[in-house]
Amino acid sequence: MCGIVGYIGNKQALPIILNGLKRLEYRGYDSSGVATYNGSTIVSCKSKGKINKLEKSIAKRKNLNGKLGIGHTRWATHGVPNDINAHPQFSNSNNLCLVHNGIIENYSSIKESLIKKGYEFHSETDTEVLVNLIEFVKEKENVKLGEAVQIALQKVVGAYAIAVIDNNKPDEIVVAKLGSPLCIGVGKEEHFIGSDATPFLEFTKKVIYLEDGELAVIRNHKSTIFRKTKDDTTFSPVINNLELSLDKIEKQGFDHYMLKEIYEQPKAIRDTLRGRIIAEKGVIKLSGLDDYIDKFLSAKKITIIACGTSWHSALVAEYMFEKIAKIPVEVEYASEFRYREPVIGKEDIVLAISQSGETADTLAAIKLAKEKGAFIYGICNVVGSSIARESDTGSYTHAGPEIGVASTKAFTTQMTVLYLMAVKLSKSKGIISEQIYRKYILEISRIDKKIHKILASNDIIKKVAKKIKGSKNCLYLGRGYNFPIALEGALKLKEISYIHAEGYPAAEMKHGPIALIDKNMPTIVIATNKINYDKIVSNIQEIKSRKGQIIAIVSKGDKEVKKIADYTIEVPDSIESITPFITVIPLQLLSYHIAVMLGKNVDQPRNLAKSVTVE
Ligand code: AGP
Repeated sequence: MCGIVGYIGNKQALPIILNGLKRLEYRGYDSSGVATYNGSTIVSCKSKGKINKLEKSIAKRKNLNGKLGIGHTRWATHGVPNDINAHPQFSNSNNLCLVHNGIIENYSSIKESLIKKGYEFHSETDTEVLVNLIEFVKEKENVKLGEAVQIALQKVVGAYAIAVIDNNKPDEIVVAKLGSPLCIGVGKEEHFIGSDATPFLEFTKKVIYLEDGELAVIRNHKSTIFRKTKDDTTFSPVINNLELSLDKIEKQGFDHYMLKEIYEQPKAIRDTLRGRIIAEKGVIKLSGLDDYIDKFLSAKKITIIACGTSWHSALVAEYMFEKIAKIPVEVEYASEFRYREPVIGKEDIVLAISQSGETADTLAAIKLAKEKGAFIYGICNVVGSSIARESDTGSYTHAGPEIGVASTKAFTTQMTVLYLMAVKLSKSKGIISEQIYRKYILEISRIDKKIHKILASNDIIKKVAKKIKGSKNCLYLGRGYNFPIALEGALKLKEISYIHAEGYPAAEMKHGPIALIDKNMPTIVIATNKINYDKIVSNIQEIKSRKGQIIAIVSKGDKEVKKIADYTIEVPDSIESITPFITVIPLQLLSYHIAVMLGKNVDQPRNLAKSVTVE
């Protein structure tokens, strides 16, 4: 997820763009850049790091003036964060300059065809390919920038929000959108561009939200033409009057980043799957795994190292890899692994899971494993992060920046990558048939719709939260795939509401924890119908017989648990290995609502940091 900003009008563009980029820093902050037309040519300045680094670079320049400009703050998807990969990206002639938020899935094939036509590339980005494709079309078809963008985008597969300017026509900005947000601020003889309206809120409340497949040619002091990318139909857009506050817009209308990120999970999973599965053809493409498939197929064991929520996704992976791919897995807390003199060597594969890619214990643990000869596969959310760079290869989750300290969309996108790995390895080992393989792929391709259904029951979950928000302790129980989810649910509750909570395998109750049960101890039981259902029902009865309060997560249509639980939250039915994607959602919402009701700082809970870079 990146942020784009643009300006065309009667003011100096640079200060407006810089301020706008700061407003969008929450969308991505590993590098940034600006470009303005200074009266004779387009000039730019780019910098790795946050916007304040860019400001320092700009302060050394004198020529970044002008009343037309674009800017970008990056969350890398292709190419590590550095000055060359930062946007804006220029075409070979240096005449076209473009900023982009999204992922061009077929950029490699387009790049190859442009290289054959003599184009050269300096960055690793899909964006540089796009701006050169537009230039190629503009020259070949001898058309204006707007038409060239329209023709070029019809050759592109993926998601984009772009703003493009032309050295030879410095009185217009062309913008287009598909799958990533983009809006236009309409001022008096000036126009603003933004990934959301925060960059120009103080200048105008009149906003046009471009829809997917729409393009606009914004001309200085003249009319703006709006067109459908697919054909030549023009249209008059709706101009909205903005009511939201700055804070609300940054959170896209949600009260907290955590809630926004819970609701972003369907999109985050889609983005993580993008370009990696072709459901109708039964194809999984994971370049990091594909390049080393033989190493994985011959592995005697996979060791997964992580911390916190990432350690919970590692536990889910243990079930996935062993049940689906029949590969032995060992899950380790990084903080323990690094000090216990592990017996590990060159035959071993280590998966390192980390949202931030900077967790000190995880980084130290994989360095130790690497010293001992192990092969390291990183699963991170931050491109170019330390753990990603320390790994021999890996797969990024494309969850976008996760601002809330309590990890949500990072967790479900980690499970998405791990699921694809387990299914791909199982097929490669000949364990599952083509038909079962396609079924697994189809199921993950539909998970976003199931999560949407659970998000729709938010009000029911909020009512349950109200019933138990006064508790001092909570128990979370689950079996099989739902055991790591019980742990994750307990971690979510304790880290944002400060209520003590513990997760257990449900069968463990009789080995001690059941002594805790009384009418003041709510137990959240994940009782979906595919995982030891009868056993978990008897666990519920054991608790009920000791006056314990039961909140049960059940599969849609469940009747038996509904008769005995105090409260039930229904989730869609699914195959066993998809269950954890579904059962974690109500637990995320439950902890969120309890913490809000208790007046806690949900996005920045006490004593916690988003990334634990200290030991
Ligand atoms: C989870 O909600 C916490 N924020 C924390 O446990 C986190 O998962 C842990 O610190 C690991 O972080 P990482 O994924 O960035 O390595």
